[in-house]
Amino acid sequence: MGTSTSTSAEATPGPPSTREASARRLDAAKLRTHFPALDQTVNGHPLVYLDNAATSQKPTAVLDAISSYYERDNANVHRGIHELSRRATVAYEEARGKVARWIGASDASEIVWTRGTTDAINLVAGAWGLDNVGEGDEILLTVLEHHSNIVPWQLLAARRGATLRYLELDEQGRLVLDDLPRLLNDRTRLVAVSHVSNALGTINPLPEVISAAHDHGALVLVDGAQGAVHAAVDVQRMGADFYAFSGHKMCGPTGIGVLWARRELLQEMAPYQGGGEMIGVVGRDSSTWADVPHKFEAGTPNIVGAIGLGAAVDFLAEVGMSAIEAHERELLIYALDRIRDVPGVRVFGPEDHRERSAVVSFTLGDAHPHDISTILDMHGIAVRAGHHCAQLVMKHFGVAATARASLYLYNTKDDVDRLIEGLHQVRSVFG
Ligand SMILES: Cc1ncc(COP(=O)(O)O)c(C=O)c1O
Repeated sequence: MGTSTSTSAEATPGPPSTREASARRLDAAKLRTHFPALDQTVNGHPLVYLDNAATSQKPTAVLDAISSYYERDNANVHRGIHELSRRATVAYEEARGKVARWIGASDASEIVWTRGTTDAINLVAGAWGLDNVGEGDEILLTVLEHHSNIVPWQLLAARRGATLRYLELDEQGRLVLDDLPRLLNDRTRLVAVSHVSNALGTINPLPEVISAAHDHGALVLVDGAQGAVHAAVDVQRMGADFYAFSGHKMCGPTGIGVLWARRELLQEMAPYQGGGEMIGVVGRDSSTWADVPHKFEAGTPNIVGAIGLGAAVDFLAEVGMSAIEAHERELLIYALDRIRDVPGVRVFGPEDHRERSAVVSFTLGDAHPHDISTILDMHGIAVRAGHHCAQLVMKHFGVAATARASLYLYNTKDDVDRLIEGLHQVRSVFG
């Protein structure tokens, strides 16, 4: 693929630890030439894209994989005997294998394609939850969660008569782990927790949460939408029961995501949706199911999405997840240092950069975050403003919204400098 990083190391199969023997450095300025969308002007200024927590830009390798699939191989999977269908099926299943190796799953059948993180969490709530959560049972969430990891559990709790409990945050937006013993008990069926907060960047202490949950016999679902994107993940070592993430936040297409779970757990679960592709034998009154993961993939799947995500995994693996992590950390430290010097800025989230990922959520004096975002946009700088689908986090800090700059592998210190200049423009408007 030739990503023009400063390394020539090839991506090889295996869990992240074995794939990347040593940390490499990436050259973000070169890397960004692989992302056509970054090469444009917005409102007369070169684009600075800092809305990566919402969605990332796509490299040419992914765009090419998508168009070449449609140009050459387009056919439905698992159905046809003809050549195009064979090619489409092979590419689709190969992508599953790539994702499995990338997150250290023990087998490709542990990768269920979904529409994204939201869909994956709804699948667990709808398939596992309906059969395993009953009257009087409890589900433990955290105040840090994205709405995608709250609302499906609210719907399930309402249907099953279960109770939701919440792990609170401290003043820096970190989980108050000391409350875990009080919140977990033998009625707790599931703990649903994010790997990394999209609103603050807080990296959650998953080992502590997972082991406490397991001590009480509860399963753990990790919302990895902001996790697997930025650092190597090894799901077996992590030890959670479910891990969910979205393709579009990690250089892949929209409409494709992943639910990982151990094969035995997936096998025990009832199907989520019924239809073609997910059956064994269909009778008049009942049917049998296909083996996992196809049992959970009713209907024509997002074939090109899976293939595009496979290409994104190849791209990220070639750049190197440890190189991406190191680059983002350097950039985060730089961004935090610079933004804290802007008078009137309040940065949310952990003070210690080691406890956070490459997200900088902030307010600036009396300027409404929407105004901050609008003025930055006039200078070609894309940041997010709002509650970031994390209204409980906003409530915790007593604000309605924040502005959020989120960094990724192709961002540079120049991008951060442009953001800081933009914030001075905001100050000049709001005094
Ligand atoms: C932490 C977190 N969870 C879940 C989601 C939902 O992801 P998707 O909209 O791709 O399903 C997001 C998206 O921003 C997120 O940041």
